[in-house]
Amino acid sequence: MNSPADTMDILLDQHELAAGIDRLASDVRLTTAGKPLLIVGVLTGSIVVVADLIRRLDGPVQVAMVWASSYRGSTTSPGRLDLHLETLPEVTGRHILVVDDIFDTGHTLQAILERIGALGAASVRSLVLLEKEGRAEVDIRPDFVGFRIPDRFVVGYGLDYDGAWRQLPHLAALDESEIAGLARIPGVRRTGGDG
Ligand code: IMP
Ligand code: MG
Repeated sequence: MNSPADTMDILLDQHELAAGIDRLASDVRLTTAGKPLLIVGVLTGSIVVVADLIRRLDGPVQVAMVWASSYRGSTTSPGRLDLHLETLPEVTGRHILVVDDIFDTGHTLQAILERIGALGAASVRSLVLLEKEGRAEVDIRPDFVGFRIPDRFVVGYGLDYDGAWRQLPHLAALDESEIAGLARIPGVRRTGGDG
């Protein structure tokens, strides 16, 4: 069956993504030297990265997921940020690794790091699968970056457009005409999106 996904540009295929996660996992292992880690994944985009990353980490690991959503005027440009950290376990004295899908303007990660940093963790580091080049609007940068990508809108491997395409096993880039032509998915909220 024909799907719009068939004509999308593949930016990173499954093998490249797997190799990137291998590199990230070994960097995290080297840096954290077997200390117990609390992985804090940012919903929803980080689910695939978290699932793949934790299976490559040895040593004690606990996983928590928090929710971030930026309310957008359009679905591809960032807006006001909504953060829900109620699901965080006790972080005092612990080594935290915040995991997100993509560092775009950086506002999401900056806000999460500030909030968690205020809770008395022993260390707070951050990991993203992707960093978009030339987009940052904040001074912080993630500690671990899987891939630096050009400034294009990407979907797949957890990342969505308007709630769709998270399930693609590869990372695809959409151009403006593809974005305009994609049918919106019924039932997806128009005014806000899950990170
Ligand atoms: P930031 O706060 O601008 O860094 O945006 C971070 C969030 O925006 C990510 O966690 C994603 O959910 C979303 N985002 C940014 N760029 C893209 C993209 O190209 N594709 C899908 N989601 C994106
Ligand atoms: Mg998103």
